[in-house]
Amino acid sequence: MRLRPPSESPEAAEARSDVLKAVEKYYRTRYGEASPFVPGQSPVPYAGRQFDEREMLSLVDASLDMWLTAGRFANAFERRFAHLLDRKYAALVNSGSSANLVAIMALTSPRLGEKRLRPGDEVITVAAGFPTTVSPIVRAGAVPVFLDVDLQTGNVLVDRLDSALSDRTRAVVLAHTLGNPFDLARVSGFCKAHDLWLVEDNCDALGSRYGGRLTSTFGDMATASFYPPHHITMGEGGAVVTSDSTLKVLVESFRDWGRDCWCAPGISDTCNKRFDWKLGDLPHGYDHKYIYSHLGYNLKVTDMQAALGLAQLDKLEGFVAARRSNWSFLRERLQKYEEHLVLPEATADSEPSWFGFLMTVRPEAPFSRAEIVHCLEDRGIATRMLFGGNLLRQPAFVDVPHRVVGGLDNTDALMNRGFWIGVYPGLTEAMKEHVVSCFDSFIASKSGRAGKGVE
Ligand SMILES: Cc1ncc(COP(=O)(O)O)c(C=O)c1O
Repeated sequence: MRLRPPSESPEAAEARSDVLKAVEKYYRTRYGEASPFVPGQSPVPYAGRQFDEREMLSLVDASLDMWLTAGRFANAFERRFAHLLDRKYAALVNSGSSANLVAIMALTSPRLGEKRLRPGDEVITVAAGFPTTVSPIVRAGAVPVFLDVDLQTGNVLVDRLDSALSDRTRAVVLAHTLGNPFDLARVSGFCKAHDLWLVEDNCDALGSRYGGRLTSTFGDMATASFYPPHHITMGEGGAVVTSDSTLKVLVESFRDWGRDCWCAPGISDTCNKRFDWKLGDLPHGYDHKYIYSHLGYNLKVTDMQAALGLAQLDKLEGFVAARRSNWSFLRERLQKYEEHLVLPEATADSEPSWFGFLMTVRPEAPFSRAEIVHCLEDRGIATRMLFGGNLLRQPAFVDVPHRVVGGLDNTDALMNRGFWIGVYPGLTEAMKEHVVSCFDSFIASKSGRAGKGVE
């Protein structure tokens, strides 16, 4: 879907159309034909950007406006993204990490009164995951309280939520691990019962559903990442979605330098009293454009990023279907190795939009994680660890004040024996067959039963 171009002279419109025709030709010439897959030689990535001429056209179209910062493409993306996720608002930012940062910082705003997150307050989360789900909690001066996860779903052990609660608990911040929703019924029920904020880190789970409802629609806020391995990409990009109008204003304030003014870039006097405010110790009438109610950042996107994202949104449904089908293929074909590998399971009552295929080598398996990972990598198959493993064992986290409730045995098991491989839409049948045949030959060689598992 192409956005209507801005008003321009007929000559400029014609030149724009010539440029776009040339771009289409460039795409076809440069990227039109995929090189054939050679098992063992060609890479099998764990993820990667999926694009065709439509992304390039949208990107160049936006660049011709020379608007450069967030503009008509960003506005259109925010509207469509909010609608897609059934939320009232979406705020684009420059990464998923920035989305988590502004979502957590929004909770620290004095405008939230008694409910605000203050230094020393506690936030329940997990240590098996990506660092920037947790680091904003620490930056806000709050204390992360870590719970263990389930090995098959990769998600929080909800039975431990009650014992993590204290009179300082203010929020729960969790990611849907590798696209698999955490138990939203239990977690959102817990948050409601104790009047806690819930932030869903949906960076790896765009399109996932729980109880038929999209993830991102359960929390007070949810975040997304548009970094290339993710479900859709802008190169760099992210978003916060919410249906709460107060949180929307706070998120945008932290994103946009901490300003009090809510005018879009290039617009003035949306409030109709630009020179009539009296805030802080500033003189009455000080220009609202330069009044700052928060210690903010500048985490906005450019219109080129948003334009790319718009072209990707058109394809999201197909991307999600491909991820599901690739995951199911691997689940079915690797089922026979359950004896050696803890295989992933979708959370009950969920339909994940998978980011990856998680496995944990069992302690009694006749091979180690290092051996299977090296074997796969040697044959061109990209593997990944579950991000930071146990975040508490990362150098950045060793001195971070925190609490652990109930031990982190599975988190350590994932750190020591877990890994995942890709399910992204770029996988072809030949690639998937190659992946399975590498498992087959490796495990047969280690089991001392040549031929075991080979189809
Ligand atoms: C769960 C999770 N949250 C946040 C992020 C950060 O996203 P970004 O790379 O866009 O900063 C990632 C990155 O992959 C992630 O996996």
